[in-house]
Amino acid sequence: MQPWPYPRWIAHRGAGKLAPENTLAAFRLGARHGYRMFECDAKLSADGVIFLMHDETLERTTSGSGVGGDKPWSELSRLYAGNWHSRAYAGEPLATLANVAHFCLANGFFLNIEIKPTRGTEAHTGAAVAHEAARLWAGAAVPPLLSSFRPDALAAAQAVQPQLPRGLLLDSLWTGWLDMALELQCVAVVCNHALWNAGNVAQVHDAGLRCLSYTVNDEWAAQRLIGLGTEGIITDRVDLFAPT
Ligand code: G3P
Ligand code: MG
Repeated sequence: MQPWPYPRWIAHRGAGKLAPENTLAAFRLGARHGYRMFECDAKLSADGVIFLMHDETLERTTSGSGVGGDKPWSELSRLYAGNWHSRAYAGEPLATLANVAHFCLANGFFLNIEIKPTRGTEAHTGAAVAHEAARLWAGAAVPPLLSSFRPDALAAAQAVQPQLPRGLLLDSLWTGWLDMALELQCVAVVCNHALWNAGNVAQVHDAGLRCLSYTVNDEWAAQRLIGLGTEGIITDRVDLFAPT
């Protein structure tokens, strides 16, 4: 197996629930808790800007409404992405992938970019994220890890920037998951943590891939995953787990 360049502990959406998810403020808070790697959700604006947001629609985490990916960045950039969370973060804007890339590169931090396409834009988003990641991290020692629940998005990323590492996200062990990860030349399988067991960890390792988990928020689950020999843990609880 190739050496694994990423830390074990990965702060989900920047700092879990302690700050507004997927904003730069969240990344800064995660970093203040000692985290050196972050997960974020990336999607494409109507005019081709990669920005960070988890949901398909704007309502839950921004001051806007409707499908985020239907709007141009000129509109998205005027929205507030922290007011919903708490007064401390009122006025916080949405982040672009470029914003977060600069933050990570300036500080020597690592990033896991989850490609979270707006429905119907899977291949387009996968390719656009890969192009932008390759541009932003050009010359960097360690590239970001691209992951997605959508094999079509990962296939598009693989087609345009095959050198960027990929991870297949799984919320169930659907038929053919490992063959798909191999076909996509993934370096990791990123699985709902409860689904890992000694058998499938060995299968993944024997295939030359690493085992990562989301979203691990209690000690018992974390200890189980470390005991199983898995390599990465994505957590909301940056206040509970001291990253090693
Ligand atoms: O990338 C791991 C995890 O973030 C996947 O689930 O819904 O939190 O994006 P979700
Ligand atoms: Mg995610």
